[in-house]
Amino acid sequence: MSGVSRFSFARTQLKNRIKAPEIHKRGALNVTMEIRQYRPEDKIALRRVCSVTAPAFSTDKEKDALYAAYLDYYLDCESEYCFVAANDDGVPIGYVICAHDYGEYARRYFSRELPYSTKLLKSAPKVWLSKKAEAALTKKVAAEYPAHLHIDILPEGQRMGIGTALVDKLKEKLASSGIGGVYLVCSAKNEKGVNFYRKYGFKEVKKLPGSIVFGLKTGV
Ligand SMILES: CC(C)(COP(=O)(O)OP(=O)(O)OC[C@H]1O[C@@H](n2cnc3c(N)ncnc32)[C@H](O)[C@@H]1OP(=O)(O)O)[C@@H](O)C(=O)NCCC(=O)NCCS
Repeated sequence: MSGVSRFSFARTQLKNRIKAPEIHKRGALNVTMEIRQYRPEDKIALRRVCSVTAPAFSTDKEKDALYAAYLDYYLDCESEYCFVAANDDGVPIGYVICAHDYGEYARRYFSRELPYSTKLLKSAPKVWLSKKAEAALTKKVAAEYPAHLHIDILPEGQRMGIGTALVDKLKEKLASSGIGGVYLVCSAKNEKGVNFYRKYGFKEVKKLPGSIVFGLKTGV
């Protein structure tokens, strides 16, 4: 068996098992992957996942703005809707994070009372403006899809079914909370992301300059 087919075999095995509840094993490489709710002690590992998957933010100042814009609010204020994929050692290698209701998110995030908003205003006004613009442009989408998400997985964990398992988990949680839909904004140039959302069953609900807004109904 060539290296490529051995990898495909292992990947297929993980994809099958990752659908089982909570604990997932990849027998061929003896890897255990767990999909579970976020815990505060995961934050440092998740910041690493966030910065590795967003290489354009390279300086410390830019990384701080990145965390403030795309990570900390969700972990600190909406941890119930944040899930991680943790490896054999319990270290998260990927996450899906979510704000469950657009109105509540906008009120809290943009209130200027939270440290995230203050940090962004001071350190990265462009990021702040793009967050504001994105929120304004997606306001109508949120009437049908109240929640929104961000998902990132370290390169070594990609294309193994982990993203699918994380979205399955979030969708289940949103449905059990009575939330009917979730949206996200993806760069039109992000081929992996665009293919992933289409394959999962997200619908393209709006086009923005350079980006696509995808929406998924949870079935409630
Ligand atoms: C996009 C991302 C979350 C997908 O998660 P993943 O665990 O790699 O995806 P899965 O293994 O569950 O793949 C499901 C399907 O998505 C599509 N897909 C995933 N990775 C792909 C890639 N590199 N190229 C093309 N299609 C891809 C495929 O259709 C795949 O099904 P298949 O393997 O049966 O062909 C992950 O690649 C990632 O974190 N990328 C970097 C950060 C990012 O772009 N985040 C999203 C920002 S909007």
